[in-house]
Amino acid sequence: MNRAMTDHYPRADGARVLADLNALRSIGTYKTGVHKPTFSEPHMRSLAWLAERLPDAKLSATIDGIGNVLGTSAKSGPKLLAGSHLESQNFAGWLDGPLGVVYALEAARVINSDPGINGAVEVAAWCDEEGHFGNFLGSRSYVGALTEAEIDAARDRNSERTMRDALSQVGLAGQPRVTAERGRHIGYLEAHIEQGEVLESDDLKIGVVTSIVGIWQYRITFTGEQNHAGTTRMAIRKDAGLALARFCLAIDDSFPALCGPRTVWTTGRITLDPGAPSIIPGRAEMLFQMRDSDPTVIARLEQQLARMAEEVTVQGRCSVTVEKIRTGAPAMMDPRFQDAIEAASAARANGKSIRMPSGAGHDAQILATIMPAGMLFVPSIGGISHHWSENTADADIVTGAEVFVDTCRRLLSG
Ligand code: GLV
Ligand code: MN
Ligand code: MN
Repeated sequence: MNRAMTDHYPRADGARVLADLNALRSIGTYKTGVHKPTFSEPHMRSLAWLAERLPDAKLSATIDGIGNVLGTSAKSGPKLLAGSHLESQNFAGWLDGPLGVVYALEAARVINSDPGINGAVEVAAWCDEEGHFGNFLGSRSYVGALTEAEIDAARDRNSERTMRDALSQVGLAGQPRVTAERGRHIGYLEAHIEQGEVLESDDLKIGVVTSIVGIWQYRITFTGEQNHAGTTRMAIRKDAGLALARFCLAIDDSFPALCGPRTVWTTGRITLDPGAPSIIPGRAEMLFQMRDSDPTVIARLEQQLARMAEEVTVQGRCSVTVEKIRTGAPAMMDPRFQDAIEAASAARANGKSIRMPSGAGHDAQILATIMPAGMLFVPSIGGISHHWSENTADADIVTGAEVFVDTCRRLLSG
C-alpha cells in the first residue's frame, strides 16, 4: 500500500511545536506576551535559539548582516522557503511572528529527514518585520530591494539609535547580507495568527490568504505660532495642535465617501511642540497610515488629504505639509499555494477553512515580488493582536501546524 492510500504522511509534532513557542515566549517575557524590539538582547537571543535548532532540521544556519536567520538545506530536489519574524512590537504578543517561524522549523524537521519526500523546506526569520527601524528591512534585503543608503538612514523609532550602531552593537556590522538565489525556491510559505476575529466568529480553523494589504504612511506637519497660553486671545491664536485635531476629524468625516470596502486609516502618533500646558503649540505632527489592497483607492484618498491641507493653509492660521514616508506594496497570493492550503485544511482541519484577505502586512508580500507566495492564518482569541494578551488556543496552534506541514508536503510534491 502506498502512503496516499493510508495517509501515513509524516505529521507535525504538536507538543514539540507548543514547547518551542513557549521556549521563545520565555525569552523577553512581558506579562503573558513578550517585549523583543529589533536588535534588543531578547531578540538576539531568540535568533540564536533558532540558529541552534536548525541543524535538527538538517539545515545549516546563518545570521546575516541585516539580522536575517536563514537555514539552508543540502538535500536534493525542490526547495520551499518558509518563515516569519522573531522580534515583536513593544510589550506585545508571543505569537505574532514566532508562530510562523516555529511552523517552518517543524515542517523542516519533519520533511527534510524523510527520504520519501523529494525536496526540502528551508527556514527564514526575517529581521524587523515590525518596523522598529524601517519597513520589512530583512525581507527587502533578501529580495535585493534594500540599499546601503537606506540602512545608513534607518533609526530606531523609540530610541533614535541608528541602525548602523545597532548592527555593530549586536556584532553584525560588516557581515554580508544574504540575497535570494533566483530559481532556488518553488516559493515561500508563511503562517501567522489572523490578528482579527473572522476565523473565531465562524468557528473556522484556517484562513487561506488571498491577498495582503498595502500600507501607506505619511508625516503630516502643522505649523502655527508658539505663544503664551494665558495672554494670547483666542481670536488671534495660531494653534497647530488644534489644527491637527480638526484635521483628524475631517479625515474621518470625508474618507467614508471615498474609500473602498476594506480601507482602514489610523493616526498612530501625535506630537505637539513644545508640548507644555502653558504654551500654544507652534508645531504639531501626526503619523498617519492608510491600508488597502487597491492603489487607486489610496490615490483618491491622497488627493483628499492634499485638498484638506490646502484648505487649512488657505484659512491662514496654520500651514500644513503632507509627506509620504512609506509606499504600500499590496500582493496577491499564488493560486496554487491557496489550493494546496485548502487541500491540506480538508485533510487536517475538517475543511474548516475560508479564503480571506490579510489586513496586516507580512514578509510574504515582499517575497511575493520574486517568487510565488502563500500564507495561512490560525484563529486569534478575541481578534486581539499587537497587545501582550494576544493568544490562540493550543488546539488551534496544533491544527495549524498540521495543516502547514501538509501544505509544504503537497507543494514539494508538485
Ligand atoms: C504588521 O505587523 C502590521 O502592522 O501589519
Ligand atoms: Mn507578524
Ligand atoms: Mn505584527
